[in-house]
Amino acid sequence: MIDDLWYKNAVVYCLSVGSFMDSNGDGIGDFRGLTRRLDYLHGLGITAIWLMPFQASPGKDDGYDISDYYSVDQRYGTLGDFVEFTHGCHQRGIRVIIDLVVNHTSDRHPWFKEARSSKNSSYRDWYVWSEKKPANANKGMVFPGVQKATWTHDKGSKSWYFHRFYDFQPDLNTSNPHVQAEILKIMGFWLQLGVSGFRMDAVPFVIATKGPKVNKPVEQYDMLRTFREFLQWRKGDAIVLAEANVLPETDMEYFGDDGDRMHMMFNFHVNQHLFYAMASGDARPLAAAMKVTKPRPATAQWGLFLRNHDELDLGRLTEKQRAKVFEAFGPEKSMQLYDRGIRRRLAPMLGGDRRRLELAYSLMYTLPGTPVLRYGDEIAMGDNLALPERNCARTPMQWSTEPHAGFTKSARLKNPVIDKGPYGYDHVNVAMQRRDPDSMLNWTERMIRMRKEVPEIGWGDFSIIPTRDPSVLAIRYDWRNNSALFVHNFDEGPREVTFVVGLDDDRDLHLINLLSESHSRADDRGRHHLMLEGFGYRWFRTGGLDYLLRRSDIDVPPPGRK
Ligand code: GLC
Ligand code: CA
Repeated sequence: MIDDLWYKNAVVYCLSVGSFMDSNGDGIGDFRGLTRRLDYLHGLGITAIWLMPFQASPGKDDGYDISDYYSVDQRYGTLGDFVEFTHGCHQRGIRVIIDLVVNHTSDRHPWFKEARSSKNSSYRDWYVWSEKKPANANKGMVFPGVQKATWTHDKGSKSWYFHRFYDFQPDLNTSNPHVQAEILKIMGFWLQLGVSGFRMDAVPFVIATKGPKVNKPVEQYDMLRTFREFLQWRKGDAIVLAEANVLPETDMEYFGDDGDRMHMMFNFHVNQHLFYAMASGDARPLAAAMKVTKPRPATAQWGLFLRNHDELDLGRLTEKQRAKVFEAFGPEKSMQLYDRGIRRRLAPMLGGDRRRLELAYSLMYTLPGTPVLRYGDEIAMGDNLALPERNCARTPMQWSTEPHAGFTKSARLKNPVIDKGPYGYDHVNVAMQRRDPDSMLNWTERMIRMRKEVPEIGWGDFSIIPTRDPSVLAIRYDWRNNSALFVHNFDEGPREVTFVVGLDDDRDLHLINLLSESHSRADDRGRHHLMLEGFGYRWFRTGGLDYLLRRSDIDVPPPGRK
């Protein structure tokens, strides 16, 4: 059914059009600006772009409140500009996936206006209503502290409507077959305009039962299969990357036992434990998180990320672990959000320490899954905590030392450019980093290049190699007679480790360093001795100096389940 598994080994770059590049000087990034920057992204080596919502929207939740699914918000350009953009991507071999925000619409969407106008409206049942105030109206908020309720009174129709998120985001009644058909139509529309799939927003809520009497929502997993089937009938290589921050035991419900539901999911479980490992220097809980999220169908893949456009959600850690991460990376109240997370960008969280940044990104590139970078990560951009909620980490891309970081010619910016402190654009920008071979930008480009040359990570099966040191994590991937080994030291001090690679032939006697000239040769008992500097990392391939001559093709899926 699937005709291409490109996402198994992709490098995804996520950006919002409005903050990337402004072409016409109105202070708002647009598709024409973005299209002009495609060679930059191509040069970085990314293979897919994930676009955050760009459809018509009042913009009260950064576009996650859509008022017309079949449009481009006029601030960003036209549908014509969008097609020029996807065309430009295809010319460079870059795929495009876009956000699919269908748990809710904006309250300005004509469907909702129509639905609230009368109880007899044909759109009434597209949303979720209650005659009386439901008992749980003040429960289940996604944004505690900012969002007051999940049910709000609608004066006009004298009833209450349900909203899992903000009150201007009424939930669609996704159990309604008309709504389901419309969701498919939206997917079909954008597929036709050249996208390769969707990052599906808030999936557990999309498929949950909704209503005034629903105290414990139940997931209707069959819906996921419907979405997938439709996608693949229309376009064999189209995928869904699900935003689903769920417990590991439900992962397979989302992927589907036969790989017939979501192609990809973000690995929130590994993400949170990765931050804990960096905060504590103890990699063991991360290894455990990798093991519990290991089961997945052969055609499925994890999306791996460090920071995204939302807060770093730490809700899955124990209270003690969470306290540790807060203490290390977001000690002040102003850095925290929704009682569960940290809203800063990665670079300031890690104190701008290049060793720690490299450790973090090296992990993102080598843990099981497909890495998803966020715009600005490649130059270690900072945040502006003076901006409300999650906006602090959504400031415009910093291109140069020109006014407004070369992002726009206008002085009227929605989110100001960071122009003060160590992360101000006069210190952190693309133009300067291009010219510096040791910059974060050039380092990132080299890492992406090498990541693409190690398909074992995407295709292979991993095992954790014992190092007997809780702060050193060693992961081996095996795929078709090739093996790769990645070693990371979470401690700030140097560590000396001894380990056996554990392959059953002599391929493990030589470890070829993929990033520098310091290779490793086993002693006569087959053990490797490694000296890792504080926060050090190593990428190895086993089996002799012909390491780049792989013994297999890279684009045929392995049979069976992992
Ligand atoms: C998802 C998005 C977030 C948005 C919310 C409501 O969680 O990541 O940015 O606010 O959905 O659409
Ligand atoms: Ca513009």
